Amino acid sequence: MTTSFSARLAVRELEPYAPGLSIDEIRSRYGLERIIKLASNENPLGVSPLAKEAVERKAASVFRYAQSGCPRLVEAIAGLHGLSPDCVVIGNGSDEVIDLLIRCLAEPGRNNVAVFKPCFGLYPLQSRICGVELRAAPLRENFHFDWEALLDLVDERTSLVFVTTPDNPSGYSPPAPELEKLALRLPAGTLLVLDEAYMDFAACSEGIPNSRLAEFSLLPRFRDFGNLAVLRTFSKLHGLAGLRLGYGLMPAELASCLCRARLPFSVNILAEAAGLAALEDRDFLLETLKTVERGRELLQRELAALGCRVYPSSSNFIMFAPPERDGPARPEGEAGHVFESLLRRGVIVRRLNSYGLPGLLRVSVGKEEENRIFLTALREILA
Ligand SMILES: Cc1ncc(COP(=O)(O)O)c(C=O)c1O
Repeated sequence: MTTSFSARLAVRELEPYAPGLSIDEIRSRYGLERIIKLASNENPLGVSPLAKEAVERKAASVFRYAQSGCPRLVEAIAGLHGLSPDCVVIGNGSDEVIDLLIRCLAEPGRNNVAVFKPCFGLYPLQSRICGVELRAAPLRENFHFDWEALLDLVDERTSLVFVTTPDNPSGYSPPAPELEKLALRLPAGTLLVLDEAYMDFAACSEGIPNSRLAEFSLLPRFRDFGNLAVLRTFSKLHGLAGLRLGYGLMPAELASCLCRARLPFSVNILAEAAGLAALEDRDFLLETLKTVERGRELLQRELAALGCRVYPSSSNFIMFAPPERDGPARPEGEAGHVFESLLRRGVIVRRLNSYGLPGLLRVSVGKEEENRIFLTALREILA
């Protein structure tokens, strides 16, 4: 049957967001019992026990709508960062806040959005859906940021500049003074969006949360900047990726626009209850940070010992290139071969083809046992 519908050109031409592979997909493809997923930078310890209890307690109330705007959660987030609740926009994952920022600030066909390339896939995707021009400055060869190249793309029609720190997929965090210089050099009317989905892992040192925050983040000096938004998520440190909860901190006037443009009840009552409980679960947060710090050190050291090129990471994942081997090149490339061979052994890591980096892989830090299983499998493959 033919239909007379025709989606907008921008939508017809979209490449869908490429997520990491799921455990169920790999279990059914290879008929494996044990699968280890180190592909999507989720919390290695699972979900916060307090958040899990809160979800169980709240389950009987899911027939009700959440309180509009989730004011208790907004208060708690504002308190966590020492800011006014008027500056907080919660969303169905920080993905929703990214989408809202683009939709509220960039006029289709007139404004543009500037990013680095490669970058987290949602900035280009949502910009395209909105019909907004995307400008991308290449990262340096070592995946550090080339600020001059980015600023060259920015003009008075640039509504938003997205910078991810620590960056995904490299794990690199630029020093805060570089971010400050960038914020000060942007034209009036351009918002600098610092996506800090993984900042908790960079800011923690020797198990002490936020002890290095001022080194990497402008958040402690948020009030000094009128053109700054900072994005955070409950998907990583708090282990709530599947519930979808994230937030943005931004000037109150802008926050108010986003809250008006947001779909009603996009944050559901289970996510709200879990988020409130997760913020209280200090033991879980400390244990997660320790597990990531230890695991990251182990993985970086052992990957280098296996001859991989390892990109230093301050996040809960590590990007690496498998060693070159002697002999003819494999049709799928060395990274493709390692990726498929790991899958056959029940270990899912992330290929970076969708980031335009077919020679590289990204592995999330797992529990100690998972890290060791991954390393053993990789050792066998490279032998
Ligand atoms: C850099 C970056 N920003 C945002 C997100 C989205 O987080 P959320 O689960 O809160 O939508 C991710 C998810 O992986 C990410 O890597």
